[in-house]
Amino acid sequence: MSDQAEPLRRGLRRRQWAPEPRTIAVTSGKGGVGKSNVSLNFSLSLSQLGARVLLLDMDIGMGNIDILLGQSPSLTLADWVSERMPLAELVKSGPEQLSYIAGGTGAMQWLSIDAAGIDEFLVELQTVASSYDYLLFDMGAGASKEQLYFLRSVDEVFVVTTPEPTAMTDAYAMMKYMHGSSCQAPFSVIVNRAAKEWEGHEVFGRLKHAADRFFNKDISLLGIVPEDRAVARAVASQTPFLLLEPEAKASRAVRQMAHRYAPGGKREEEPAGRASRFFAKLRQLLLER
Ligand SMILES: Nc1ncnc2c1ncn2[C@@H]1O[C@H](COP(=O)(O)OP(=O)(O)O)[C@@H](O)[C@H]1O
Ligand SMILES: [Mg+2]
Repeated sequence: MSDQAEPLRRGLRRRQWAPEPRTIAVTSGKGGVGKSNVSLNFSLSLSQLGARVLLLDMDIGMGNIDILLGQSPSLTLADWVSERMPLAELVKSGPEQLSYIAGGTGAMQWLSIDAAGIDEFLVELQTVASSYDYLLFDMGAGASKEQLYFLRSVDEVFVVTTPEPTAMTDAYAMMKYMHGSSCQAPFSVIVNRAAKEWEGHEVFGRLKHAADRFFNKDISLLGIVPEDRAVARAVASQTPFLLLEPEAKASRAVRQMAHRYAPGGKREEEPAGRASRFFAKLRQLLLER
């Protein structure tokens, strides 16, 4: 083990028992399935329920949470990489008390920096994270080696798909790949752009059957979001659909999903000794590289 690993090990010992938010990675096999819209509007719904949510845009070079919000943050994750801008200064306030960190470009380059640099990032993120109930990572589609570290460390993985055969095939392939790469977190599927409720159930049924049969993992359905023109209108006007058209079908569906997931905005009590170990796991994985 190189000397560079020492700060990482120290960090690991130091913060072992600090309170941590629940960490969720939102991913998909195929791009363009609505991952960012779902992440953003789901985060806003959780915020409306009273949860403290931090949304991190991890989509390398294609970060667009700020665009969906119609805000142009001066600082993004890319500025941490290039200038070591304090992470706390990158946190922006969105509507409904939602906090977010914009991706900018090259946001993931930090994983190619040395162990001390990574430790610095994790220490800062852990400090920032301690004032939130939920940390949502809007990941890019698919998974690079670096993204896999995140996917292996989070408490939960949400997989977004649409009923399109290509999106479903890619969602299945993505889950199989994550499972085969030791992602042990529960997988929850969100079927977006469903023409009808039954179509969403059918899509999930097929994915569940395949996951059961071919890699023996029990996946669950988080929710079904209908195909809704309100989404495109919201994207065009750079206002989240939940706020632009609160009574639209998509808005109701996302609110329902958040409500089922976190009734009253409260996060599920972690059984004693099974608290989220996101930072410890991520550090450990980075150490082992
Ligand atoms: N439920 C929906 N109904 C209608 N159109 C949708 C829906 N969800 C997403 N879209 C369309 O898909 C586009 C891509 O969504 P986006 O969230 O940027 O996808 P991703 O983050 O997966 O690349 C949106 O701009 C919108 O036009
Ligand atoms: Mg996106």
